[in-house]
Amino acid sequence: MSERISKLIFPRLVVLITTCSKSGKPNVAPFSFIMPVSFKPKYLAFSVAPTRHTFKNLEEIGEFVVNVPSENMLKEVWVCGTASGKNTDKFMLAGLEIVKSVKVYPPRIKKCPVQLECRIEFMREFGDHYLVVGRILEEHIEQIEFKPILHYSGNEFYGVKEKVRV
Ligand SMILES: Cc1cc2nc3c(=O)[nH]c(=O)nc-3n(C[C@H](O)[C@H](O)[C@H](O)COP(=O)(O)O)c2cc1C
Repeated sequence: MSERISKLIFPRLVVLITTCSKSGKPNVAPFSFIMPVSFKPKYLAFSVAPTRHTFKNLEEIGEFVVNVPSENMLKEVWVCGTASGKNTDKFMLAGLEIVKSVKVYPPRIKKCPVQLECRIEFMREFGDHYLVVGRILEEHIEQIEFKPILHYSGNEFYGVKEKVRV
């Protein structure tokens, strides 16, 4: 028996990653193949399929912003995950307001409680995805206590009910 890896390793945090083309056109897409890598300095990693417009932008401008959405942004997440930035302005489509970043070229999403500006330090093909490791250059924390969105696979999500203690 075999199953998609997304149905075996779950739930996973959903983030909205903003990128930018060489010509300055920003884009946004949700990603759930994401993990923290190091405390100090702060590094994180995610995995992107080369078919994504996001991938093209990452190759052009080696920078990105990880925006962590809260539970009430599930609709926006789904809109951004079902259209490609190749020929769509997903910020308009999803009604997401962007603000200028401090250290990187791609913008941040104002409504997201956490926004992390990153520069790529490693990017390599693994199977049908590329692993991207980015160093966090600047962090914006609008809110620390919020309910994130968790992903299973496809259009199936989880919410966080409560904190549990040991
Ligand atoms: C919740 C969610 C999580 C996703 N996670 C990933 C991921 O980790 N890696 C990836 O390559 N695509 C992932 N996708 C698919 C892309 O977000 C989707 O193909 C999107 O339309 C790509 O947009 P772009 O072409 O503008 O980059 C995910 C989609 C959703 C809805």
